[in-house]
Amino acid sequence: MGLSRGVAFSLKAITFTDSLKLSKAFAVLNCSQLVTVRGPQRPRFGDELSDLSIITDGALLVRGDQIHQVGSRDQIEPQLDQDCEVIDAGGRIVLPGFVDAHTHPVFAGNRAGEFEERSKGATYQEIAARGGGIQSTVLATRAASHDELLRSAAGHAEWFLRCGTTTVEGKSGYGLSLEDELKILRVIKDLNEHAPLRIIPTFLGAHDLPPEFRGRREAYIRLLIDEMLPAVAEGKLAEYCDVFCEQSVFSIDESWKILSAARCHGLGLRIHADQLTLNGGAKLAAELDAVTADHLEHTDTEGIAALKSSGVQPILLPGSVYALGSNRYPQAREMIAAGLGIVLATDFNPGSSPTPSLPMVFSIAATHMGITPAESIVAATVNAAYSLGRGDAIGSLEEGKLADFVIHNAEDYRELAYFFGLEHPWRVYIGGNLAFAR
Ligand code: NIG
Ligand code: FE
Repeated sequence: MGLSRGVAFSLKAITFTDSLKLSKAFAVLNCSQLVTVRGPQRPRFGDELSDLSIITDGALLVRGDQIHQVGSRDQIEPQLDQDCEVIDAGGRIVLPGFVDAHTHPVFAGNRAGEFEERSKGATYQEIAARGGGIQSTVLATRAASHDELLRSAAGHAEWFLRCGTTTVEGKSGYGLSLEDELKILRVIKDLNEHAPLRIIPTFLGAHDLPPEFRGRREAYIRLLIDEMLPAVAEGKLAEYCDVFCEQSVFSIDESWKILSAARCHGLGLRIHADQLTLNGGAKLAAELDAVTADHLEHTDTEGIAALKSSGVQPILLPGSVYALGSNRYPQAREMIAAGLGIVLATDFNPGSSPTPSLPMVFSIAATHMGITPAESIVAATVNAAYSLGRGDAIGSLEEGKLADFVIHNAEDYRELAYFFGLEHPWRVYIGGNLAFAR
C-alpha cells in the first residue's frame, strides 16, 4: 500500500512516539453515532451517497494499526479483556478520518496581500496576468530551502489534522524547474515519513509556464516530458501526474502530450479541468482514462456524460469558488444524477483556496451546491479514498481497514457542516496512534 508511518514527529499537542503506547489493543466506547460509511467496495454513487451506515451507541475495537471490530457497545464491551485500554468517547460522534484528495500543501510565503486586493475588486486572472498568483508563490518557493519548506508544510499538516483530515493528496507545482519540483516532492516524501498525516504525492510540474520559458512553451513541455517526468518516476516521487488544463495555461493538446507521457511512466492521471472556462478538460480526462477530473466549475452536460462513460471521478472544490468570490459552482446535483462517484476536497493552496478544512467545504457544499451533510461525508471519506487508489485500506470504519478515525465534539454528524468555522475534532487517530488531541 505504501502507507508507511513514521515516528517521533512532534506536533504541538502530541508526540507520535508517546501515542504508540496505545497501539496494542484498545476500544472506543460511548460513541453517540459511529459513522462507519460501510458499504460496497467501490466509490458510492446516487442514493448510496446518503448512506452513512451509522451505529447508534457504537463501539470500535482496534488492534495494532487496524480496525478489528465495529459494532454496538453491547456487542463489543463484553468481549474486552482486562488489559484492553478503553477510550470513552463521551457521547461524541466518531467518523473515519477525512481524505482530502486535492491539495497543494508545499509552498513558501502566502498571498494575503492578493486576497486583500481581491476584496477591493481585482480578479484572480488580473492578478496572475501581472505576475502575481501562482508565479509569485513559485518565486518564493524556489528561494526556500528543503528544510524551510518542510517546516512550513509540517505546519500545514497540523492544520489538516486539526480539521479531522488523516490523509491528503499533495501536489508539487510551485517549483516549475527540475530541481525545484524534485525539492517539493522530496519534502512531501519526508513529511509523509515523519508526520502522522498520510500524504499521497502528485507531480504538477504543468501548473503554469515558468517565467524563464515565456514565449518558449514548446521547450518547457519538452523539459517536462524529457527530463522532469523521468526523474520523478525514477525516484518514485509521485503516484499521479496532474496538469492545469486551461486556455490560458496548458491547452488541451499540450495537456494530452504531458499526461500521455506521464502514463507511460506508470503514473495515474488527474486533471485541473474546466475551472475558469469550459475548454474540454472533462472530455480530455475521459479520453485519457484519468482517475479524476478536478474543479469542473464550467463542465456542461456533455462533459458530465463523458466522465460517466469512462468512470472518471469528479473532484469538486467549492472552497476555491468561495474564496475567489465567484458564484460559479460545479453542477454537483447533475453529476450525482448522472451516477458519478463525486469527491469533495479543499484544494488547499495559498491562492484560490487557503483552507485546510473539509467541514468548511461541507458547509459551502450544503449552502451553494445542494449537497447534504451525509453526501459530503461520503464524498470526502470513502469516495476520496477510492480516487487515490486506497479504497481497500482507508475511508470507512470496517474490519481490516487502517484505524484512521476521529472523535468529534458533536452529537450528530450534521453538526460538522452546520456549525461552520469551528474545529470539531477532539481526538484524531491515524493507524491506531493518537495524532492530535485537544
Ligand atoms: O487548484 N488551478 C490551479 N491551481 C490552484 C491555484 C493555485 C494558486 O492560485 O496558487 C487551484 O485552484
Ligand atoms: Fe488545485
